[in-house]
Amino acid sequence: MKFSVRRVATTSSTNDDVKVAAETGAAEGLVVWALRQEAGRGRQGRTWQSPEGNLYFSMLLRPPVPKRAWGNYSFVAGLAVAEVVRGFLPHAKVELKWPNDVLVGGKKISGILLEAGEGWLVAGIGLNVQKMPENPMYPATSLMDEGAALPELEEILNKALAAFGTVYEQMNKEGFAPIRAAWLKSAKKGAMRVRLPSLDNELTGEFADLDDEGNLVLRLADGEVRKISAGDVS
Ligand code: BTN
Repeated sequence: MKFSVRRVATTSSTNDDVKVAAETGAAEGLVVWALRQEAGRGRQGRTWQSPEGNLYFSMLLRPPVPKRAWGNYSFVAGLAVAEVVRGFLPHAKVELKWPNDVLVGGKKISGILLEAGEGWLVAGIGLNVQKMPENPMYPATSLMDEGAALPELEEILNKALAAFGTVYEQMNKEGFAPIRAAWLKSAKKGAMRVRLPSLDNELTGEFADLDDEGNLVLRLADGEVRKISAGDVS
């Protein structure tokens, strides 16, 4: 996987920049990296606060598999980010929370937003390096707050791209099974709450599994087992 990085000081959202490029035929591997975003977006219509000091980038992918499997590339991105975070925080407890949060000591350090269109998939990654934007929804942290000795943002970006490229190629060659197995090893187990925008409600249960299609298997308090699809690729 060859990446071609376009660095910008400020933009609205790197996902939007890559989407526009994708629609006009840009090649797989285009990366837009911004020092700050003015309209950074998170999942489910949320805002991703994007002050200077953190990493914000989006990659253009044109996965060689049927579109219904594209949601599973969020696990590819999660694994890559977890590997990078572990490199800077070798003693920390780094976990993956379905579908695509990376947690350090239970606090969110990174978020991933996948968006797809005709023939393209954009994987946008935000990684808290020096700042941890306030968000009442969940506790957050950053590499700096966890005590990492910080290199330049560009070095972190390059590590993330290298890690992503390796896992992406593995997914394309070997399918989801090894990705699922690796993801499960780092999965945050135990109680979790999932918001279901489609039903406009929340489910609380215990993490039971990630099935072979990327669905969360949740065991509810009454023992009922529910499968929840990320529905993240819009
Ligand atoms: C989430 O956890 O809700 C996902 C957050 C994704 C944020 C990244 S930052 C780079 C890219 N550009 C955006 O506007 N969003 C993603």
